[in-house]
Amino acid sequence: MSTTFQLDTSTSRANPTPQPMKRLTVPRIRARKVDGTTEEPLVMLTAYTARQAQLLDAHCDLLLVGDSLGQVIYGLPSTIPVTLDMMANHAAAVVRGSYHPVVVVDMPFGSYEASPQQAFESAAMLLKASGAAAVKLEGGEAMAETAAFLSQRGIPVMGHVGLTPQAVNVLGGYMARGRSDAEADKIVADARALDDAGAFAVVVEGVVEPIAIAVTEAISCPTIGIGASAQCDGQVLVTDDMLGMFERVPRFVKKYDDIAQQIEGSVKRYAEEVRARTFPGQEQTYQPKG
Ligand code: KIV
Repeated sequence: MSTTFQLDTSTSRANPTPQPMKRLTVPRIRARKVDGTTEEPLVMLTAYTARQAQLLDAHCDLLLVGDSLGQVIYGLPSTIPVTLDMMANHAAAVVRGSYHPVVVVDMPFGSYEASPQQAFESAAMLLKASGAAAVKLEGGEAMAETAAFLSQRGIPVMGHVGLTPQAVNVLGGYMARGRSDAEADKIVADARALDDAGAFAVVVEGVVEPIAIAVTEAISCPTIGIGASAQCDGQVLVTDDMLGMFERVPRFVKKYDDIAQQIEGSVKRYAEEVRARTFPGQEQTYQPKG
C-alpha cells in the first residue's frame, strides 16, 4: 500500500498531511480508447520532483518519471547511467507531490532486459519504494514476453517504441525512425507485440507521422506520441523542454515558455542586490521587539 501525501502547495516548508487518494487508475486510462478511438486525448508530462508534480497535477492524466532525468536533472550524457535508486527516489517525490494523475516510472537501462524475472524484481522495487502505479520499458517484440510477465503479475506496463533512447548505442543517435519500409514495419510490429502482451499504453517516439498514425490504428491500447503525430491517443513531452529550461531542444518540442531566461533574470537581480547590500531589506530582516 503506497503512502501518499498531499502537500501544502503554498510553501516549501510544508508538513505532509495524509489524504485519501482519488487518483486516476491504469484501467481508466486504458479505457479511454474505445474501438480504436480516443475521444479526449491523454495528457502526459514528465515530472521528477514533488513541486513539479504539484504544478502539473491538475492538468495531466499521467505523470512520467522519465529516465530523461539522467540528462535533465543529473547532467549525464545519456539515459544509460541512470540507476534504479535514482528512479525510485524521484518517483517517490512525484507520488508525494501529486494525487490526481497516474504516476508511471521508467525502468532504467540494465534493470529489465536480461529476463522477465529481472524485470519483475526491478519493477516491484520501483513500485514498492515509490507508490507509483505502473512502469514503462523500452523495446517492442523483444520485450513482449517481459511485458506479459509483469502485467500478469500485477505490474501495469507502458511500452515505448520507435526512437528508444536507451538503445542510442545501437541506433547511433537520436534521429527519427521509420523512414524505410523495413523500419516502419518493425515499429508497427513492436507496438502490436506490446499491445498483445497486455501493455496498457505505448509511447511512440520520434517516428515519421504516417507510422505514428499506422501504429495508433493498429493497436487497441492508447498510443502516446512524442515527436510522432497529433493523431496519437495522447501526447507527452519532457516538461523542462516545453518550459524552455534549455536553449537547444529536439525539433518536435514546442516551447511554451522561456523559464531559463526568467531564472537568469531573477538570479542576476538577486546578485546585484546582494553586492549592493540592498538585500535583505527591512521586510526580510528581524528587528528587536519594542
Ligand atoms: O524518459 C523520458 O522522459 C521519456 C519520454 C520522453 C517519453 O521516455
